Amino acid sequence: MTEPLLGRNIAVAVGGGIAAYKACDFVRELRRAGAEVRVAMTKGACEFITPLTMQNLSGNPVFTDTFDSSQDHLYGHLQLAKWADLFVIAPATADLLARIKAGLGNDAVTTTLLAFRGPVLLAPAMNTAMWEHAETQATVAALVAQPKYRMVGPVAGPLADGDVGMGRLAELKELVTAVTAIAVAGPLAGKRVLVTAGPTREALDPVRFISNPSTGKMGLAMAEVARALGAVVTVVLGPVETVPPRGLEVIRVTTADEMLAAVMGRVEAVDVFVAAAAVSDWKAEQVSSTKVKKGEGVETVRLVRTPDVLATASAKVHGNPKRPVLMGFAAETHDVEAYARGKLTKKRLDLIVANDVSQAGAGFGSDSNRVIVFDGTGERLRAEGSKRDVAKEIWGVVLERRVG
Ligand code: CTP
Repeated sequence: MTEPLLGRNIAVAVGGGIAAYKACDFVRELRRAGAEVRVAMTKGACEFITPLTMQNLSGNPVFTDTFDSSQDHLYGHLQLAKWADLFVIAPATADLLARIKAGLGNDAVTTTLLAFRGPVLLAPAMNTAMWEHAETQATVAALVAQPKYRMVGPVAGPLADGDVGMGRLAELKELVTAVTAIAVAGPLAGKRVLVTAGPTREALDPVRFISNPSTGKMGLAMAEVARALGAVVTVVLGPVETVPPRGLEVIRVTTADEMLAAVMGRVEAVDVFVAAAAVSDWKAEQVSSTKVKKGEGVETVRLVRTPDVLATASAKVHGNPKRPVLMGFAAETHDVEAYARGKLTKKRLDLIVANDVSQAGAGFGSDSNRVIVFDGTGERLRAEGSKRDVAKEIWGVVLERRVG
C-alpha cells in the first residue's frame, strides 16, 4: 500500500533539541504516508524551529501553550489527546523524557501526554554524554518497561556538537517504519468490518423519492476509526454529500434493497457488522416509470415496508460459531432506553447505540453526537463529543468483547 497511514491521526510532540529541525521532514513524511498530523511543541522546541513551520508542514494549527486561551479553541491538551491514535515524541530530549517519566504536566506536550491513553513512540536524540547518563538510562528503562511506550533510536553517528557517538535521532525512514508498525498493529489488525451508513432513497417516480436527512457522518466516523484501529473496512453507503475518508472500500447504493444485497453478500465474512444507516422504512408499492402529474384532490400513495437490512443480516449469521459482532443504531426522540433495548433483543444484536435525535448537538447532520450504548446486560457507555471521538469510545466498548 502506498499510503500505509491513511486514516491515522498522529500527534507529533517536538522537544527542544537541535534534532527538532528533523521533525519537520518527519511530519512531511507522515503526511505523505497518508496520516493526518497535529503537532505540539515544548517551549524549547520553539527556540529551534517555529510553530509556523510546523503549522505549514502539518496543515494544522500547532499547540504550544496550555495557558494561551487563543489556542484553547484549536484543540487544547484534552482534545488533542482524544483526537490522536498515536503519539510520537521526536526528538525526545533528556529533559522531556525525565518529565514524562515523572508524570509532570507542565507544558503543551506533557499535559497532552498525561491525558493520552494510546501508544507512544519515543524517538530520543541528545548528546552522547547526556544519553549515557545514569539518570537518562534509568528514565528510558522505566518508560519502555510500560507497554504504552515504544522506542526508536537513538543511533550512533556524528552529532551536531561535533562529538561522534550514540544520540542521533533515528533516521527518517526508521521513524516512519516504527510508526507504521505500531499503527498497523492496532487492536483490529487483520479484522474485517462492515458498516452501513447514510440514508436510503426510495423512488416514487423518476423525480420524487422518500428519504431522510441522514448524512452518513456517524457511520463514516465508525468506519474511519475501525480503519485507524487496523481493520479492513467496507462501507455500504447510501446517497450522501459527505465525502468518505480515504482508506475505506466504499460501495454506493441507493435503495434499501440494494443495501440489503450488498450486506448479505458480505456479512458472513466479517468480524464486526455496524448498521449505522438510516434505512427508509417504506417504499412505494408501485414506482411510476414516468413523472406523476399532480391532480387537484388528495393523492394516495400505497407504501410497503422495505427489508430490515440489520435484522435480515442478523438472522443469516445467527447460530454461526464465528458470527460477527452485531451493532445497531437507534435514533429515538423519546423513551430512548426502552426502545433501544427492545431493538437489541428483537434483532438479536450484541450492542446498540442509542441517540436522542430530539437533542441539540446530536443526530442527523450534526458533527457532534451524544449516545448511550447498551448490551444485553444494560448500559455500557455514555459518550458525547465529535462523531469521531464518540466513534472511538464506541469501538472501545466493542473491543471489550471477543472480535473474530
Ligand atoms: N435498520 C436496517 N434496515 C431497516 C431499518 C433499520 O438495517 N430497514 C437498522 C438501522 O441501520 C439501525 C437499526 O436497524 O441500526 C434501527 O432499528 P429500527 O428498529 O429499524 O429503528 P427505526 O427505523 O428507528 O425503527 P422505528 O421507526 O420503529 O423506531
